Amino acid sequence: MKFFIDTANLDEIKEAYALGILDGVTTNPSLMAKEGIKGQDNIIAHYKAICDIVEDNVSAEVIATDFEGMIKEGENLASISPKIVVKIPMIKDGIKAIKYLSGKGIRTNCTLIFSAGQALLAAKAGATYVSPFIGRLDDINQDGTELIAQIVHIFDNYQLQTQVLAASIRHTMHLITCAEIGSHVATCPLKVITGLLNHPLTDSGLSKFLEDYKKSQS
Ligand code: G3P
Repeated sequence: MKFFIDTANLDEIKEAYALGILDGVTTNPSLMAKEGIKGQDNIIAHYKAICDIVEDNVSAEVIATDFEGMIKEGENLASISPKIVVKIPMIKDGIKAIKYLSGKGIRTNCTLIFSAGQALLAAKAGATYVSPFIGRLDDINQDGTELIAQIVHIFDNYQLQTQVLAASIRHTMHLITCAEIGSHVATCPLKVITGLLNHPLTDSGLSKFLEDYKKSQS
């Protein structure tokens, strides 16, 4: 499973990249706003800065919601770097834009997926990734990880090349369940990635090893 980090914060991206396990970054307008990135020039510069840190797979989201606007913005974003994946919302014109951009060889990530039907449409249009938001489904009493399993199953049935990118991941168990199900990618906040490091038996075991080493040396 590929690990993406879901943030526009450069320090967090650097920290995750330094671990050596990071495969990409996803951003969205809310995450960009959280970092105080305003104005088109600053937005482009920020995407460039992210692309300078990681090796590939930087999802950059369009703001337009009409076909012409999305393809214009998508082509502009893709021209920043070959690492850019254009993020397109799951709406009717979004499907058309994914079809158009994928035909031009531009990778796309269809975002705001909340059903298997939406994922199937995006895959048929040629999306590189589909992003089901599992935490937001959990928020309304639907099992988000069940949706991941359903989409993985459907894509497997037809050997679709589109990859399932589990998004809106809130905690480590979401991540582990996605891995068990066979999600191709999971994008998560830094705290979820680093949360995988933790186990009290690792901490107490290491303390004991170091204590015993010290004793043996005195
Ligand atoms: O990857 C999508 C993500 O940014 C949304 O997460 O926690 O706002 O539902 P959340």
